[in-house]
Amino acid sequence: MTQGVLQTYREFLPITPATPMITLGEGDTPLVRSHRLAEQLGLESLYFKLEGSNPTGSFKDRGMVMAVANAIEHDSKTLICASTGNTSASAAAYGAHCNLSTVVLVPKGNVARGKIAQAIAYGANILVINGNFDQALTMVRELSSRHPIALVNSVNPYRIEGQKTAAFEVSDALGDAPDYLCIPVGNAGNITAYWKGFKEYQETEHTTHTPQMFGFQAEGSAPIVRGEIIENPETIASAIRIGNPASWKSALEARDESGGIIDAVTDEEILAAYKLLARLEGIFCEPASAASVAGMMKSVAKGLIDKDKMVVCVLTGSGLKDPDLVNQIADIPLRELGTEIDDVERAILSM
Ligand code: F0G
Repeated sequence: MTQGVLQTYREFLPITPATPMITLGEGDTPLVRSHRLAEQLGLESLYFKLEGSNPTGSFKDRGMVMAVANAIEHDSKTLICASTGNTSASAAAYGAHCNLSTVVLVPKGNVARGKIAQAIAYGANILVINGNFDQALTMVRELSSRHPIALVNSVNPYRIEGQKTAAFEVSDALGDAPDYLCIPVGNAGNITAYWKGFKEYQETEHTTHTPQMFGFQAEGSAPIVRGEIIENPETIASAIRIGNPASWKSALEARDESGGIIDAVTDEEILAAYKLLARLEGIFCEPASAASVAGMMKSVAKGLIDKDKMVVCVLTGSGLKDPDLVNQIADIPLRELGTEIDDVERAILSM
């Protein structure tokens, strides 16, 4: 039976005797070694952390299980969040699992179809906001202070606590921390969580060092890189279409304390990495996730990554979340045939 992150990492988490040890089987995700892309780039050891293998298809489940357990411990009956899609899918799933009602605010027209499908399936109350993620987050922060409802965005410190377990898993799998950790940055909760996890693992002597944190924003939504709030963020990677990250300050701390960088990648670079991952590695992630690989490739080209060192790219969510996007980049025409075997044979032989 799967243990889940609360049980597996309980000594590192804010768990009390009153915390319900809930799980949907989150965590324990694969760390897959790259062969073809590593070879193309001349990298000695490149790994992908497949967070799309979590129960709702993204890394959010690690933090959500902790935040929801804490909400139940404090007698909350309702969860609320703003989301570009994955947080809402995760909140809705754990809400359903624990018989809580879940309210999600999502920006109109900028959430991938699979993510909305999840929130509907899990029975969340979905409010589509005619605005962007940043505006939705401002509203849920205010509403959760007015009413006894649990805010489960990553401004909730329990989310960060749960998400830091991914850094433990990466370190356990490699036998030590990697040298570089490449990660997409949106609201900046995840880079904050990984950095906290890596520091705690070093302090408790599970590892000998911490990695350099390499965070990547999409160019049209790169407030941290530009040093200013972006009022109207844009990018094809809708999960990280965020102009005013809540954990801005702690993302800068992660960068500076680790000797890392936070850089921007273009939508073209994101799509190129998205396609390379699928075609070279057999890994289908969502576009926001591919920002980590796009950024890693850009950093290798700039000479910022030592090719003999160990590199981990976090692939935050599953490609199945965003089925529409793949149609935009597909260059393989679908051929329709009848049921004549000779026609099918001819088609195969002419490939
Ligand atoms: N990758 C994916 C697939 C995401 O869904 C998100 C954030 C990120 C990366 C960035 O992580 O915000 O911690 O820096 N998604 C949030 C949501 C905003 O609402 O699902 P971050």
